[in-house]
Amino acid sequence: MIIDVATASPRQIYNLLIGLVAPRPIALVTSHNEQGRLNAAPFSAYNYLCTDPPVVGIGVTNRPGTFSPKDTAQNIRRTGEFVVNVVTEDLLQQMNICATDFPQEVDELQMAGLETAPSSIVKVPRIRTAHAALECVEHTTLEIGKSRIILGRVVAMYVEDEFVDPSGPYIKAEELHAVGRMNGLGSYVKTRDAFLTQPRISYGEWQNGKR
Ligand SMILES: Cc1cc2nc3c(=O)[nH]c(=O)nc-3n(C[C@H](O)[C@H](O)[C@H](O)COP(=O)(O)O)c2cc1C
Repeated sequence: MIIDVATASPRQIYNLLIGLVAPRPIALVTSHNEQGRLNAAPFSAYNYLCTDPPVVGIGVTNRPGTFSPKDTAQNIRRTGEFVVNVVTEDLLQQMNICATDFPQEVDELQMAGLETAPSSIVKVPRIRTAHAALECVEHTTLEIGKSRIILGRVVAMYVEDEFVDPSGPYIKAEELHAVGRMNGLGSYVKTRDAFLTQPRISYGEWQNGKR
């Protein structure tokens, strides 16, 4: 089947793309407005984009119907800061509560029973029970159609000691149990006991027949 993007509806394209670009990491983003009112929401249009300097990108679609930016996008535009909390199995249910379309004055963190802890550089706090978090300052926000692509420069990384192998340092990803989002119908993937290892092959090894 070939889907003609020119004639497909935005909803159809969304359904197809999120099924094809999967699994995706999930950023549970904490932010606050100018008055300090906290907000938390998950985003799976998310990845790191470069490491020197370290930059992550998040795609935030405007609210359907009203076309006004979601609270996260508004907060980041106004305060220039946010924190990406890494979503792991133990945070899945609370992350999902944070995605509920609560009125603006409702603190999703409170609804989800999540506490915060101070960040080290940015004013926005991280989620206390998140095992890892990236403190970010807004680098730039691109407005594309009805979405905003927010690029954030990572200014500090928080990781619980038990998940760091100091020799790299590396993240003990097999033990962190991060979850990924699949096709948007409430489906996620676990990373527990799911690792495959496929070391890269140098050109020299290739010439010697390694595959
Ligand atoms: C796992 C998950 C991933 C999501 N990813 C995105 C995303 O990438 N972009 C987006 O605009 N909304 C995404 N959403 C929906 C937002 O989380 C939801 O609209 C939320 O209410 C926005 O909150 P805010 O207005 O407080 O920013 C996602 C929801 C879930 C459950």
